[in-house]
Amino acid sequence: MAFPERRLRRLRRTPALRRMVAETQVGPDDLIAPLFIREGIDQPNPIESLPGVVQHTVDSARREAAELTALGVPAVILFGVPAIKDATGSQSCDPDGIVQVALRALKADLGDDLVLIADLCVDEYTDHGHCGIVRDDGTVDNDATLELYTMAAVAQARAGADIVAPSGMMDGQVAAIRYALDQDDHPEIPILAYAAKYASALYGPFRDAVDVTIAGGGDRKGYQQDPANVRESMEEMEADLSEGADMLMVKPALAYLDVISRARARFDVPLAAYHVSGEYAMVKAAGERGWIDADAVMREHLLGIKRAGADLILTYAARQIAEEHAR
Ligand code: PBG
Repeated sequence: MAFPERRLRRLRRTPALRRMVAETQVGPDDLIAPLFIREGIDQPNPIESLPGVVQHTVDSARREAAELTALGVPAVILFGVPAIKDATGSQSCDPDGIVQVALRALKADLGDDLVLIADLCVDEYTDHGHCGIVRDDGTVDNDATLELYTMAAVAQARAGADIVAPSGMMDGQVAAIRYALDQDDHPEIPILAYAAKYASALYGPFRDAVDVTIAGGGDRKGYQQDPANVRESMEEMEADLSEGADMLMVKPALAYLDVISRARARFDVPLAAYHVSGEYAMVKAAGERGWIDADAVMREHLLGIKRAGADLILTYAARQIAEEHAR
């Protein structure tokens, strides 16, 4: 009589039983919704490669932020698309730059009911599309770029950002920003460091969303990480924490679940993962073709990111997940 000793199927028998023993949930509290705000448009502009996502006007961003808040999503991260781009991305630190305008409007509407995270980088604002100051030889000047970031951080904090999130992968950026925020009397503003950010091919639709093309067919491999490496991510995270980061991020998420899991085991600060544009777009595209059930795959992917150890997930599916949760 060789009956199995362990009948693991017993706890899978009904939906309620499965729910009772589920080790992981993804709900609105886990999510951060990215919002794109474009200067100089009077109607929201759909982003073809990100179905369901738009470039917002300030007004439509206000409506979206209020709806996300009502759905229980605790935070948004803002990206600006300025009307004018230049070599130093000067709109990133202008008090009237589009993100600063949006921050002030959202803060006035929602106060402390919604956490306003400002992505802190200059690539959306530069005419060459790089995340910093480009030298004559085409490389990005790390230390000159830090100065831009400190100015952007101060502008964002003054406009009402609750958190700044540096994403440019310059060495020393967290320390420089921490110092600048403290000097400008914002010691209370936390830094969410895009600590382990890879030079990924999965950012394509995002670059459509912010109208960024890197000059001369260039890439970001000189500052973002090589997808081959995981130990290096631990170094990046150690460095960012020692510079004063309050939270860490891994980006992208799905091809880097090992990075998330190692970071979770090693660090005790809140850990975020960015489910990036390409990850979202692939699911939507295959769903549109009828090849997969996009909603189910999206939930499965986000669950995997959470299970790997992320506390927070930045995802374009935030609204959809929160709506499903509300039903
Ligand atoms: C840089 C930035 C990027 C993303 C977020 N911040 C693009 C890049 O590094 O090229 C990508 C996000 C996504 O693909 O969803 N400011």
